[in-house]
Amino acid sequence: MERTYIMIKPDGVQRGLIGEIVKRFESKGFKLVAMKLTKPSKEHMEEHYVDLKEKKFFAGLIEYMTSGPVCAMVWEGKGAVVTGRKMLGATMPSESDPGTIRGDLCIEVGRNICHGSDSVDSANKEIAHWFPEGICEWESCSKAWIY
Ligand code: TYD
Repeated sequence: MERTYIMIKPDGVQRGLIGEIVKRFESKGFKLVAMKLTKPSKEHMEEHYVDLKEKKFFAGLIEYMTSGPVCAMVWEGKGAVVTGRKMLGATMPSESDPGTIRGDLCIEVGRNICHGSDSVDSANKEIAHWFPEGICEWESCSKAWIY
């Protein structure tokens, strides 16, 4: 079963949106297999966003992402990566559709609440980066009713 890395950024945590975001993923039918609240170091965050290190907004992004705790999660289910990204909505809140997390809950790209892996490959890398201790394997009894 596919897994994706979803992270509620410091603004989402500060605004009390963890429950709202978790609810959307649970209601959709995805299964939570890892979750922790953690204040990332600068080095850890720079590694996570290494592909963006040449961007003008990189320094500001790292400063924002290390300004408070993030809620790191792994969600599992059919098409978790693509569907997870759809549920987050477009990067730019002005372009994210109503009904998506970003479309419903934020205004500014530099405060866009959440992160989601953009491919199965990056999901695997991000899961290993954020959960070196491994994830929680468990059997959900609702599975038979979702699939
Ligand atoms: P990116 O990987 O392009 O988007 P996504 O988060 O949708 O995968 O960018 C990472 C984060 O960088 C994005 O969520 C918010 C921030 N960012 C800015 O602050 N300004 C920008 O112009 C862009 C494109 C991104």
